[in-house]
Amino acid sequence: MSDKFDLIVIGGGPGGYVCAIRASQLGLKTACIESRGSLGGTCLNVGCIPSKSLLNLSENYHKAKKNFFDQGIEVSNIKLNIDKMMKNKNKSVQVLTKGIEFLFKKNKVTYIKGKGVIFSSQNVVVYDEGKKTSYNTKNIVIATGSFPSSLPGIEINEKNIISSTAALSLSSVPKSLVVIGGGYIGLEMGSVWKRLGAEVTVIENLPFITPGMDREISEEFKKILIKQGIKFQLNSKVLSIKDTGTQVQISYQTNEKKFKISADKALVAVGRKPYTEGLNLGKVGIKKDEKGRIKVNKKFQTDLQNIYAIGDVIDGPMLAHKAEEEGIAVAESLAGQSGHVNYDVIPGVIYTSPEVAYVGKTEEQLKRDSIEYKVGKFPFLANSRAKVNNETEGFVKILADKKSDRVLGVHIIGPHCGDMIAEMALAMEFGASAEDIARTCHAHPTHTEAIKEAALAVDKRPIHF
Ligand code: NAI
Repeated sequence: MSDKFDLIVIGGGPGGYVCAIRASQLGLKTACIESRGSLGGTCLNVGCIPSKSLLNLSENYHKAKKNFFDQGIEVSNIKLNIDKMMKNKNKSVQVLTKGIEFLFKKNKVTYIKGKGVIFSSQNVVVYDEGKKTSYNTKNIVIATGSFPSSLPGIEINEKNIISSTAALSLSSVPKSLVVIGGGYIGLEMGSVWKRLGAEVTVIENLPFITPGMDREISEEFKKILIKQGIKFQLNSKVLSIKDTGTQVQISYQTNEKKFKISADKALVAVGRKPYTEGLNLGKVGIKKDEKGRIKVNKKFQTDLQNIYAIGDVIDGPMLAHKAEEEGIAVAESLAGQSGHVNYDVIPGVIYTSPEVAYVGKTEEQLKRDSIEYKVGKFPFLANSRAKVNNETEGFVKILADKKSDRVLGVHIIGPHCGDMIAEMALAMEFGASAEDIARTCHAHPTHTEAIKEAALAVDKRPIHF
């Protein structure tokens, strides 16, 4: 038996590592266990970070090929070096994951490599390369994240039937890629490989893409992606995928009719599942819900009050920043402060081109909840900065309470809106009205003026449209 900790965090992803750092900052003797071999979880290793790297690099390539000439920039012989592109991505990942090790040292968090298994509410055993070490602790936080789910009877082999993990590391551009699922992963990875030259078809079960998103934005998003050459098969359920060794054969059903499509690769992007395997939850008495998520109360406590769970293993959007907020809330509660997460103000971003970003309620949710609202919209076509940059697709949409004018939701599709949404999250945290935003001076010429104009449009007084 070695050290005794105040807190052991199992999982070194954005939820876990942030929780560990905050707990240590607050004086708790903290360890973080991670089995992957590098910190940062799915997000840094095989998720947000490598995908954003490829989205950026593939967009640069695409712009150089398609847009530069018309903009008076004549470069000849533009060639894709996929090997170099992947190395660039890997380097970004490595720098960032190593950065967390540095932050652990700086904040005195003990980094324990291996697979953590909970033996009791005060004991975690770590298995690493045949070695077994037992640790005592006053508290445990489970932050073990999620893994890609598949469809019944379909096995992801990471050869031709791939998940996002393999889609981030292909060694050549497939001629054709079928993406199953028109959600975050499907559309981001579909965009990357489309820009690099693949024929991309998205098969989506529902009649629309990005379920849960404001429908008007989702429809605009689909139109823009179709213009970029991505094909969509909506209302279509994938029944089977066969890997022939060189290709995949996908059969799917649309309105009772069965169809077949062949492609070089099939990317299965139909959601993710909480990862709790091997933690020993059943034995120690921690319950999960019907979707395999660990049940927690408002303080993130499981059935055992000194064992907490955060991030993708519990209910809520599977987003890195949501997990981070929960990690901080738990650490602060453990240190006697009042940790809290405002679930009404969690922004979401899809990092395609243009980006899509939102925070708060959608129009569909407001209608469902019988909340009366006003809408203000402003197109980027009328925004001077977007115009000079030749990036005029999309619009800002602000939903405000009909009586109080309080902002209830903001939905944007357009250039750089993944960064712009932070302003709206802040406004909502402060309980801003559309009028507050409309009266805030926004620098000219910036994309953010479209936000101000949309806020003015809530009161039907935009200046430039
Ligand atoms: P998702 O839940 O976003 O989308 C899955 C899609 O698959 C849905 O549209 C669903 O209707 C469809 N689908 C389900 N079964 C199907 C079938 N049999 N045939 C055809 N379509 C089917 O899940 P996704 O894209 O796999 O992402 C997983 C998680 O990762 C999400 O919760 C997301 O929040 C997170 N993520 C976030 C990113 C970001 O913040 N930019 C980027 C990538 C992932």
